Parts: sequence; structure tokens; C-alpha cells
Amino acid sequence: MEQVPFLNLGRQYQQIREDVKREWDDVLAKTAFAGGPFVTRFEEAFAHYCQAKYAAGVNTGTSALHLAMLALGIGPGDEVIVPGNTFVATAWGVSYCGATPVFVDCDEYYNLDPRAAEAAITPKTRAIAGVHLYGQPCRLDELKEIASRHQIHLIEDAAQAHGALFKDQRVGSIGDISAFSFYPGKNLGAYGEGGGITTNRKEWIDHIYRLRNHGSEERYYHDEVGYNMRMDGLQATVLEIKLRHLDNWNDGRREVAKTYLEGIDNSLITLPKVLPDTVPVWHLFVVTTPHRDRLMKHLQSRGVQSALHYPVPCHLQKAYASLGYSKGDLPKSEALASTCVSLPMFAELTLEERSRVVDAVNSYKG
Ligand SMILES: Cc1ncc(COP(=O)(O)O)c(C=O)c1O
Repeated sequence: MEQVPFLNLGRQYQQIREDVKREWDDVLAKTAFAGGPFVTRFEEAFAHYCQAKYAAGVNTGTSALHLAMLALGIGPGDEVIVPGNTFVATAWGVSYCGATPVFVDCDEYYNLDPRAAEAAITPKTRAIAGVHLYGQPCRLDELKEIASRHQIHLIEDAAQAHGALFKDQRVGSIGDISAFSFYPGKNLGAYGEGGGITTNRKEWIDHIYRLRNHGSEERYYHDEVGYNMRMDGLQATVLEIKLRHLDNWNDGRREVAKTYLEGIDNSLITLPKVLPDTVPVWHLFVVTTPHRDRLMKHLQSRGVQSALHYPVPCHLQKAYASLGYSKGDLPKSEALASTCVSLPMFAELTLEERSRVVDAVNSYKG
């Protein structure tokens, strides 16, 4: 029996193969490899798409978070509020600046709970990092109101949510500054590594352009200690090609999600909920069930691949043991980590594959 893949990037490639070959040939002929005009072109298109004034392309989403936080002036002695339930790179950005991540619990939508975030604010807090996990926008209006009342920054980690809408506005244009990942499996993914930053503040984006380029505006003159975090021309080109298809592909993911939401009917399975007034982009479709290993085994026996996002919440990662968190500190994030299962999710899943997923989940008996 053919497996229903968790993700198949090859099917998407077939749709853009000729464009990629032709446009990559242009990059190669012009030898515009590191930074350069193809990156600028993508930055303009991406800023426009996100309804933000400015965008910067960088080498990874992790660098995007790091540089965004540096541009806000976050440094040693500062605290940044981060959800316990996220990919750990949200916290890496804070740690790389020498600041301390303060982990808080999630809400019923699996995203940062604004009340928990506000309760964690101390005189050292400089920012809240709201993550749009699984492609679902977090509660940006409440987080923005809290941030502005406490005169701290709101950072959006939109690594999993390219194109998602919060009250008719694109994520990446609502917080003070936003970070995106273009890791290959993301909704907008490169053919290598990539990341991006969007903001409406010119001084921050100019600082990021310098920081990513060895702290330099003029070649061999370095105004500050910088990094080599430039995006490369080949990645910028494939991202620009893919950006033209992103809304269609996100529509395809929403169709898959609709099939699952309408078709899955099993009292052992809890389906994800969508925050009102948002349009998610379903980077992942995460269900929960008490004995998730049994569900994963059952799915495997029916030829359906599944995955975990994420089995260990950030506050319980070994890397952060020195911060002194223990089991029970973030009960909702911990419960999610032990009950979550991600079902196959990408726009090119066939109708037959989608119904095989639904049938497999519905025939699970615990
Ligand atoms: C929520 C979140 N933040 C940050 C990152 C880091 O991005 P990258 O892998 O491009 O460094 C990722 C993805 O890997 C992510 O899912």
C-alpha cells in the first residue's frame, strides 16, 4: 500500500520546475550569489505581500529572530516572554542576544496566552514574542494592547504562518517587528535555508541590513561587530517564484483542513480550534488524543504518516535546564506535548489521500 506522506515537496516542485530552472540560470549567469539584486527584488515583493513597509532577507529564520531582537536593542539582563509551546528557535533568538527567555503557557488555540504573558512581565521585560504556531495567528490585538500598556515590544514569530490573516491584516505587519523562516518545509520554503524580517520602522531594517552584512554598509568599513547572515540569490529567486503561488497553496491547505475538520469524527480525537476573526494557513494540522503513541501506530498500520510538534516544550528542554523550570510549571503546554499528533498537511494531498487520513483516524479505537 502506498503511504500517505506527511509532506511531499516534490509535487510542488513539478508546478514551478520550468520557472525555477529558467530563473536560476539567470542568477548563475549574473553570478549574483550572496545578497545582491535578486534578494532586493524578493524583499520588495515579500514586504508588499505582508503589508509591511520593509523586509530583509537573511540566511535562516533563527537568524531573523536574532537580528530582529538585536534591532530592538535587546541584550544582557533583559527578559523576553516566549511561549513554552513553540519550536525552540524562538527562544534561541533571545539567548543569542544574552537575554533570558521567560516561558509562559498556551491558550486553547495552542498559542501564547495573553493573560499568562501579562502575568510574567517584570521590570526587566523588553518584549513579548508571539508565535503563530501551526499557521494559526496568535491573539495579536490583546498582545499588542498589553505590550503598549507596559511599553515593551511585540515581536511576531511568523515562521509557520506566511499569508495568515488576523482581522483582515497579514501577520508580519501587526507587531513591531516580525521574523519568518523559509526552511524548505514551510508554507513559503526555499530550496535550502532562508529567513526574513518585516517591519515598518526604517531605522530597524537599516540596522538589520548592516548587521547581516558584517556590520558594514560600505565594503571593508565595519561600524559595529556584525554577522554573515545574508540571503543568497538562488534562494531569493525561488522564494519570489513561490510567493506568486502562495495564496493558492494556502487555499489548498485550507481545503485539506476543511476535509479533516468536517470528516474526522472520533470521540478519542480533539480537533484544533480556529481563533475567531483569523484566517489560518495550516502549516500543521495538530490533533490531540490521550494515548498518542497508539494513534500513531494505528495510522502507520493504515499507511498514514504522522509527526510530533513538539514532544518537549521549551521550558523542559535540557538546553534551558539552568533556568530552573520543572514539570508542572506550564500544564497546558506539557499536556499538549504529550498528546499532540500532526496529520499529513500540504496542498497537493490528493482527494483519495485525504479520505484515507480521515478513515484512518475515524477507525482508531484507542
Ligand atoms: C516557530 C518557529 N520559529 C523559528 C523557526 C526557525 O527557523 P529556521 O529553521 O529557518 O532557522 C522555526 C522553524 O524551523 C519555527 O517553526
